[in-house]
Amino acid sequence: MDIKTIEWKKNKIKIIDQTRLPDRLEYIYLDNIKDLRKAIRILSVRGAPALGAAGGLGVYLGIKDFKGKKKEFNRRLRDVALYLASSRPTARNLSWGIDRACNAALKNMHLNIDGIKLIALRESLAVIKDDIKASRSIGRYGASLIKDKDSILTICNAGILATVDYGTALGVLYRAKEEGRRFRVYICETRPLLQGTRLTAWELKKKGIEATVICDNTAASLFKDNKINKVISGADRIALNGDTANKIGTYNLAILSRYHNIPFYIAAPLSTFDFSLTSGEGILIEERNPQEVRTLLFKIRVAPLGVKVFNPSFDITRHELISAIITDKGIIRPPYGRNIRKYYVNQRSG
Ligand code: MRU
Repeated sequence: MDIKTIEWKKNKIKIIDQTRLPDRLEYIYLDNIKDLRKAIRILSVRGAPALGAAGGLGVYLGIKDFKGKKKEFNRRLRDVALYLASSRPTARNLSWGIDRACNAALKNMHLNIDGIKLIALRESLAVIKDDIKASRSIGRYGASLIKDKDSILTICNAGILATVDYGTALGVLYRAKEEGRRFRVYICETRPLLQGTRLTAWELKKKGIEATVICDNTAASLFKDNKINKVISGADRIALNGDTANKIGTYNLAILSRYHNIPFYIAAPLSTFDFSLTSGEGILIEERNPQEVRTLLFKIRVAPLGVKVFNPSFDITRHELISAIITDKGIIRPPYGRNIRKYYVNQRSG
């Protein structure tokens, strides 16, 4: 599928405006960090790995027109980083992408300011390249878990639109299809912003994968009727013990999987792991605008005026409920405490 979720074009960030899908495939150009932050907040660009790319490029966007002394430049770099990172706090990749571009700049403070800017741009382009590689690699590892006649449940969108290209959870399915497996997919609609209905259904249709959208609250009865034999989802942040933050409702599916004795897989690149957190308890869960729940996509009001709303965007699935984590470096199985650390150590020494 020849679409690019995010790229650097004409000295601007070019993204698909995901709020318009599936009606219209529209691209927008962002040339300042205020517009970028807004695009992230309203989910024009979304999904952890795509946010990593946006973060890296955003750093360059925030410094490229700077003129002044090095000390002020340094301050600008930090301000830009904080401003962008605060737009969506749960997705680990956002701050990871920002940190990569910033750290590359900070390590080269001996250069002149134009030279440092160029280093930040190069690093953010490397973030993009690395994500493309990581998604393909997740697909290769994960496809081995998908068998003929599987019936797989997924939530939210962890595909092309959530990454630079190909996807994590959906990348596994794309690769399995390329390898000739035949399977079907159920997609949770993913209230309130319907990433499942709008985005995953759109992608899977374009890829020719048989898919059925269900209301989120239909999942349990599908399990009971033996209509699901595998669950696969993406991740927004994974702690050292394997606890995983992902779209609200993922935890429900993990509990259902355990009860019905069905494997529950997470697919994510190592850039989604937060090696500073020993468990999911330290993960900050983003709470979003109540209007997302009171309305249908901000168009039709469905709740009494002023009714209270609780709208967390993510939940945490405890590691005990996760059968395996498919990463770009291999499939990690329990015990996660020990096995994730091995990957962490390899990554630092590699
Ligand atoms: O709020 P969103 O749409 O950004 O949430 C996205 C998800 O929860 C995805 O599953 C996650 O970012 C993984 S994307 C490969």
